[in-house]
Amino acid sequence: MNLSIIGTGYVGLIAGACFAEQGHKVICLDVDKDKIIKLQKGISPIYEPGLEELLKKCISKGTISFTTNSKDAIENSKIIFIAVGTPQDEQGDANMQYFKEAAEQIGNYLNEYKIIVDKSTVPVGTAGGVSGIIEGELKKRGKKIKFDVVSNPEFLAEGSAIADFQSERVVIGSESEEAKKTLHELYAAGGNEKKKILLTDTKSAEIIKYASNSMLALRLSFINEVSELCEKVGANIEDVSIGVGMDNRIGPKFLKAGLGYGGSCFPKDIKAFISTMKKNGLNNGVIDRIEDVNQRQLDRTFKKVEQLVGNVNKKRIAVLGLAFKANTDDARESPAVKISKILLEHGAILSFFDPKAMENAKAFFPSSKFAKDAYDAVEECDALVIATEWEEFKRLDLNKIKGLMKAPNVIDGRNLFDPKKMKQLGFNYLSIGR
Ligand code: UDX
Repeated sequence: MNLSIIGTGYVGLIAGACFAEQGHKVICLDVDKDKIIKLQKGISPIYEPGLEELLKKCISKGTISFTTNSKDAIENSKIIFIAVGTPQDEQGDANMQYFKEAAEQIGNYLNEYKIIVDKSTVPVGTAGGVSGIIEGELKKRGKKIKFDVVSNPEFLAEGSAIADFQSERVVIGSESEEAKKTLHELYAAGGNEKKKILLTDTKSAEIIKYASNSMLALRLSFINEVSELCEKVGANIEDVSIGVGMDNRIGPKFLKAGLGYGGSCFPKDIKAFISTMKKNGLNNGVIDRIEDVNQRQLDRTFKKVEQLVGNVNKKRIAVLGLAFKANTDDARESPAVKISKILLEHGAILSFFDPKAMENAKAFFPSSKFAKDAYDAVEECDALVIATEWEEFKRLDLNKIKGLMKAPNVIDGRNLFDPKKMKQLGFNYLSIGR
């Protein structure tokens, strides 16, 4: 099938590369010329395991191409995916500016029946709005061309996006049976016949995305709140999470207590969902509390640092991790960045190491040290804060770390180490919920 994807951000690129890998002819469209030139050479603008290899492979097979020419991309595809960013605006709602521009372009160049797919995370009711924009543009051109709109939200997690594209469920929401059938065929083709696919209406599909992310964030805030109780009474959150997760009805995933959630999705999606609830007269419910509990994890972690080093002013503190989670270079809304900002505001002198996210975080901390490795970061430090759960941090030579530090204070925001072992090694060690 001929597909085009508007927006070569995270969502657009992964979907484009994965569809191209399946043999579809994919045109990726973006307004950013430099990005398109890089992509034409097979250079990925983001770090995602396996993505660059996949792009190079599809470029050489001729199944993927990159352009800034919207007319070309729109006219030559049967299905057009809108995958542009919907960042948070000042009111906490999704900023729909890029999305509207994409819909206008489609209305401008629509030449025959096509299916327009919303892949960006958009508030409930957007699909109806897209139809209105496209119809408006067609009217200006004096044209009457049939098209259908589908809501097909994205459920890929950074770091495992390519595998997720194969295994994740697919939600297809539309008021058109014809469009639903075509999208079903697209996703269920080539060995994917057993894929979990839900066919529904557009509004339900739009809500599914926000409700899913909010549910996952709710689980995290829930377990983080329980971790606070564990600390108060001397229980162990790691065992509590295992025990709770052993119930098949609950399951073990997303029960790892830590510094709280971050990233490009949860924080903005939860805010936007709360805003949608409010607009519909629904507030003061459980969803309203998710963010506060998330913020509390940072405040609690800061207090732990103070507990070990006293006033942090002028204290040297190493922060290991800047990415919002392991296996990504993404530092957007990262709890690691947030806790570091709190420390900095209180006068701490910071040094950082992260295996992938240092470039993306440098702008936040212009006068801090960005070390060449973890050992370089901890040298002469009064405390070490572990902020991202990178595997390589688990393998650090802890004796060496202790030898390099000025004082052996470790605040582990990701529970990477065993408290007993840390004590034996001579560290003053605080972690989460243990
Ligand atoms: C998320 C959703 O998982 C995905 O389905 C959606 O499409 C986009 O948003 P992502 O932002 O890549 O994906 O991150 P995710 O893996 O969900 O983690 C979110 C945050 O929760 C991270 O900060 C992570 O460190 C934290 N987390 C996750 C925990 O603190 N504990 C856990 O047990 C799991």
